[in-house]
Amino acid sequence: MSAGVLRQWLAREQASFAQHHPTSRARFQSGQEHYLYGVPLHWMRRWAGGFPLYAASASGTTVRCVDGLEYVDFCLGDTGGMCGHAAPAVTAAVAAQLERGATLMLPTEDAEWVGAELARRFRLPYWGFTTSASDANRAAIRIARMVTGRDVVLVFNGCYHGSVEEAHVGLAAGRMVMRSGVHPNAVDHGRVSRVVEFNDPAALAAALGTRDVALVLAEPCMTNYGMIEAAPGFLATLRALTRDSGTLLLFDETHTLSAGPGGYTGRDGLDPDLFVVGKAVGGGIPVGLYGLSAQLAGRLWQQAPRGAHSLQVRQSSHLGFGGTLAGSALQVAAVRAVLAEVLTEASFARMIALADELAVGARTILRARRIPWFIAQSGARVETLLAPSPPRNASDVARGRDAELETLFHLYMLNRGILITPFHSMLLTCPATSAADVERYLEVFDAFCGELSGSGAVTPGAA
Ligand SMILES: Cc1ncc(COP(=O)(O)O)c(C=O)c1O
Repeated sequence: MSAGVLRQWLAREQASFAQHHPTSRARFQSGQEHYLYGVPLHWMRRWAGGFPLYAASASGTTVRCVDGLEYVDFCLGDTGGMCGHAAPAVTAAVAAQLERGATLMLPTEDAEWVGAELARRFRLPYWGFTTSASDANRAAIRIARMVTGRDVVLVFNGCYHGSVEEAHVGLAAGRMVMRSGVHPNAVDHGRVSRVVEFNDPAALAAALGTRDVALVLAEPCMTNYGMIEAAPGFLATLRALTRDSGTLLLFDETHTLSAGPGGYTGRDGLDPDLFVVGKAVGGGIPVGLYGLSAQLAGRLWQQAPRGAHSLQVRQSSHLGFGGTLAGSALQVAAVRAVLAEVLTEASFARMIALADELAVGARTILRARRIPWFIAQSGARVETLLAPSPPRNASDVARGRDAELETLFHLYMLNRGILITPFHSMLLTCPATSAADVERYLEVFDAFCGELSGSGAVTPGAA
């Protein structure tokens, strides 16, 4: 398809979106008056169509917009809504806790169950709460530096770990650069950050060999720049190289929790020193969690003793991490409801089975339409990559990117009642996702691919 034809098609889709969403459009226009970027969070502008839908309500996988239209949600708040919207168990637990007091600077009895369940699922014994995954990563970095006495944090090119300064770097022609649009914020990245390509053991060995890296901060499968699976043996090499160089290893499973109840760490028996999870675990209440191995916790307590303060001396010792609302009664009640009743083993089995159907159906359509795109899957998470083969690293993904075509794809789906994550083409299933939701997605995806290839409609699965 020529660039001109694609642009005309995009213009038609944009006109249709504007026509059907006059109220959202008006709200976005008036939002320019008091919001820095027109909306409460500037990322909300990133939806294809020129302005975001304004949501009236959401329940399960259904989102209703202020113009009265309904959508099947596969974005799920970019994973924050992975429990399904307004999950009854979370709503009940949170409402009950609000009535009993939301935040007290006192622990509640739910903490006991939650601590034991976190240890069981994620295989690390000691835990702390924050108010976001970004904040949990920052706490973990601080702990790693305290314990190792080193400053450098190593990340993989194309990573995203939230608003973590050290991770705002990427690679361009083999050199470390700031990620596009991110101000260095007075941080000397040359001193505190290092970045290598994912799945490159030689580059990793060289980067750790100088023995000045405190921490490798990584997702076990990269999910924020397309989706990039670790090559066979790469995670074992990562673990061995970090151990050999005295570097700590943190798996940030904020997104890869989609792999199962314990993320990759629980599913594959991984052995990180630190672990972070956020978003979905709070069921919509802002929560981040960091976990530590027994050995690492022991090293930390040597520097910052754990023991109870004496009655005479209650010195302030905030350690540089924490947060006034972290570990609040409300957060702990929400996490308990999520882990006990929503993101259970049985829910994951269903969610992953539906994601399998999505992935298989999409691959079948692409084959039938002769469109050379790749469908990646990580448990309940499915990603459409505009390239023929699985990427090994972010540079491979970048080569396959086509911003205009991706915008058209997102908008086409949006105009036909399907929400996919605006930043890349990610689909997520949740406990409320139904076979009919999957069928609907595949129907619209097939229509899109049919128009794209100009070959007319075929039924999914007919190839
Ligand atoms: C892997 C990973 N870690 C951390 C974060 C940050 O989460 P939050 O924005 O909730 O702090 C994200 C957000 O997308 C993420 O994908």
